[in-house]
Amino acid sequence: MIAIGSDHGGYELKEAIKGYFDSEKIPYKDLGTCSLESVDYSDIGILVAEAVKSGECDSGIVICGTGIGISIAVNKVPGIRAALCTDPYMARMAREHNDANVLALGGRVLGEGLALEIVKTFISTPFSHESRHQNRIDKISAIEEQYKE
Ligand code: RB5
Repeated sequence: MIAIGSDHGGYELKEAIKGYFDSEKIPYKDLGTCSLESVDYSDIGILVAEAVKSGECDSGIVICGTGIGISIAVNKVPGIRAALCTDPYMARMAREHNDANVLALGGRVLGEGLALEIVKTFISTPFSHESRHQNRIDKISAIEEQYKE
């Protein structure tokens, strides 16, 4: 199950991605927003982050105008590794090297066709499980531990 959420700046791209998921019968959970009315990206981002962190969803997709604000927000949640990707190569590396569990996209900077290629790459690429990459991810987790209150 893929959690997906956006602010108003990512709403139209979110709907396009849902259309792709529907056509391919890929299960997803839409956590908003539901219109072009202005909302704060952090309010939607936390819903997606929680869905992934709790295990309810295997991965997430978050979208705002640039993808920047919402990726910063979801990366505050321990265990979330969100990658802002602007092309399929970044999406592949985000999965193979970083084991990213959330894909962040910019609805105002990507055309729909490119965005869908990024999504397809992200959801179909496994983590490489090579020890050097796992070690680096473990060090990210150690940083989270270090700064726990
Ligand atoms: C909203 O206008 C815009 O700031 C937001 O979608 C996003 O681009 C922030 O990073």
